[in-house]
Amino acid sequence: MLSGIQPSGDLHIGNYLGALRNWVRDQERFENFFCIVDLHALTVLPDPAALRSRTLDVVALYLASGLDPAKCEIFVQSHVPAHAQLGWIVQCFTPIGWLERMTQFKVRGQTQGRERIGTGFFTYPALQAADILLYDADYVPVGDDQRQHIEFCRDVAQRLNALHGDVVKVPEPLIQGVGARVMGLDDPSVKMSKSIAAGHPLHAVFMLDPPDQIRRKIARAQTDTEPAVRDPVGPGVANLIDMYAALRGVDARSAFDEFSGKTYSALKSATADALIAALEPIQRRYAELRADESALRTGLVASAARVTVIAEATLARVQQAVGLR
Ligand code: TRP
Repeated sequence: MLSGIQPSGDLHIGNYLGALRNWVRDQERFENFFCIVDLHALTVLPDPAALRSRTLDVVALYLASGLDPAKCEIFVQSHVPAHAQLGWIVQCFTPIGWLERMTQFKVRGQTQGRERIGTGFFTYPALQAADILLYDADYVPVGDDQRQHIEFCRDVAQRLNALHGDVVKVPEPLIQGVGARVMGLDDPSVKMSKSIAAGHPLHAVFMLDPPDQIRRKIARAQTDTEPAVRDPVGPGVANLIDMYAALRGVDARSAFDEFSGKTYSALKSATADALIAALEPIQRRYAELRADESALRTGLVASAARVTVIAEATLARVQQAVGLR
């Protein structure tokens, strides 16, 4: 199983409940690869100091959340040159039209104009496909927003296989179960997102928010004008119930029963309590891990060395197939 995460923006409870927590739970079931995709982050031109430090933030947060380095390879994309090398080869097998149809590119092209977007943002899906193909990933756990990129990876893998024999493994997306979709606290009609959170302080609870901040944001989460929790609940209330249920490990129905007839403030304070209880030990551990940068860097050098062996074997296989060796 492989997933990639951009070291841009702070991780929020949508990332935690929808992804990270499931990875921790399932780490025994798979051989796990978590790639911090700094080359992808460069396509949005972040500032160098921020890129450097956020890469370590993400690693520390993954470890603090319970990913065990004995069961998961947590590594940085740019430390393994095979990503860029296979990325180029994938580009050569990618019709421009496939990239032009990508929603992410179309949206940014419309808002920002093509003159101002780096070419790396256009060819981004080819590099992402390389990330996945290098490790012969069977499963790629992703949210809805990434489905199109995984489809792209499958298409380009099939094209390579059709032209050059079975050279790469065609991956499947792994769609997450309960808690997979945490909605925005300020607008429960959209999925909680890092980019929206950047401009809207009440949109998301971040994993590193202090308790008083968590309480304040949950207290101000959008609900509706009903006086109490009752069927049918609106989307804001459903979002709180779903979060509470996911955190307490119960199903949404029994969480609803627990709060049925109670005020929204009772539901909100219980949800905030559950969040604080889940995040507090992670935050404590994070502070310890993040303080020791040299230990984090040493770990990354070692994981890059281990995964390079796998990545280079795949790269050599593809190079051979296309005539580069
Ligand atoms: N594009 C993904 C995102 O923005 C990040 C990513 C890069 C990724 N490479 C990947 C995700 C490989 C899964 C597999 O979230």
